[in-house]
Amino acid sequence: MSRMLRDVVLVDAVRTPFGRAGSALAETRADDLVVRIFREILRRNPQLPPERIDDIAVAAATQTGDQGMTLGRSAPLLAGIPRSVPGYSIDRMCAGAMTAVTTLSSGIMAGAYDVALAGGVESMSRHPMGQGMDPNPRFLAERLVDTDALIMGATAENLHDRFPQLTKQRADAYALGSQTKTAHAYAEGWIQPDLVPVAARSAEHGWGLLTADEAMRPETTLEGLASLKTPFRPHGRVTAGNSSGLTDGATAALLASEEMADELGLAKRMRMVSFAFAGVEPEVMGVGPVPSTQKALESAGLTIGDIDLFEINEAFAVQVLAFLDHFGIPDDDPRVNPMGGAIAVGHPLASSGIRLMGNLMRDFERTPSARYGLTTMCIGLGMGGTVIWENIGHTESAA
Ligand SMILES: CC(C)(COP(=O)(O)OP(=O)(O)OC[C@H]1O[C@@H](n2cnc3c(N)ncnc32)[C@H](O)[C@@H]1OP(=O)(O)O)[C@@H](O)C(=O)NCCC(=O)NCCS
Repeated sequence: MSRMLRDVVLVDAVRTPFGRAGSALAETRADDLVVRIFREILRRNPQLPPERIDDIAVAAATQTGDQGMTLGRSAPLLAGIPRSVPGYSIDRMCAGAMTAVTTLSSGIMAGAYDVALAGGVESMSRHPMGQGMDPNPRFLAERLVDTDALIMGATAENLHDRFPQLTKQRADAYALGSQTKTAHAYAEGWIQPDLVPVAARSAEHGWGLLTADEAMRPETTLEGLASLKTPFRPHGRVTAGNSSGLTDGATAALLASEEMADELGLAKRMRMVSFAFAGVEPEVMGVGPVPSTQKALESAGLTIGDIDLFEINEAFAVQVLAFLDHFGIPDDDPRVNPMGGAIAVGHPLASSGIRLMGNLMRDFERTPSARYGLTTMCIGLGMGGTVIWENIGHTESAA
């Protein structure tokens, strides 16, 4: 019997608009958000008979209540996906959806699956960060981690300490850029095609329809950012303006082996080149994307100079700057987050990894000259994740 690794392609990616926590989607169940995006991704890809999906993985950082009950099985049943299609849930905190994609892709590479569906969701309204958490007392008693390690904003303040050249002014300027780029992307209509409008229900205000990211602040100015409080430390540098906000949302991505995509006539947007996860000190978790990117580049046989486009999750501006500084990339490099990022649209924890991939899919489409792109994010308790992708549009235009 012969076995060989197979190429994985991303066929499509969709997401809900992200709602501000406590607002438009606060009364919507997280599993209903997943149902909405799963139905939409199947509607957008009618060539795929749903029974051909071999496995489904759905990520959530808090897996209780409407985010519990093995979402990867329960949401597909609610979405009307055939019962013969199995599913499971997955958790790597902020990198849940990214890990759903890499884990399912490994199954495709190994020949266990032909087609797989990945998802991520977080209702930070219904499951506030840290709620119900019961950290083992040994963490602190034995000083296994610093107390800051469990408060993401405090880890961002620590990064400012560790790299004093990453000033608040640079973080604010980066944050302003995120808002400006997002506003530009909306004006150009780059983001809307992959947003699935979601009915928003409120006991107080009745029904509405969320069609765009709710937390964007296109009116942001440097002066406004400079005046904000620093909630994680008195006289600190991390503010509501240079952090990702608390948001609700869900994402989904359809993956297939390249052969099966051809056989079924599915779109082939980008090809997975390599992926890696890495651990760092939990109290400076934001630096995680540096070693994960180094590992992913090494396993791909590429260097940072080969990467034409970057989709970096903006948990905090300082954490993106730490990555850019390390690799010698300017703060305002146009290859970085051309459609803006989480500082503007929000970061519903376990869902964000697929938002990055959906953005890269569109970045590639607009830039056929780009061959390689990477999606990367920092992860709580000190980790980073990176996935490198190849633009199939580039390969075809070069052929
Ligand atoms: C930083 C954080 C605590 C702020 O929460 P918040 O106080 O509820 O945020 P708000 O949206 O109410 O903003 C606070 C203030 O800043 C203002 N503000 C926020 N962004 C602004 C901007 N771009 N320009 C001007 N003002 C802004 C708001 O208007 C508000 O002002 P007010 O107090 O006068 O009403 C919260 O967003 C957070 O915890 N973020 C990090 C999430 C996280 O850790 N994720 C995981 C990453 S690994």
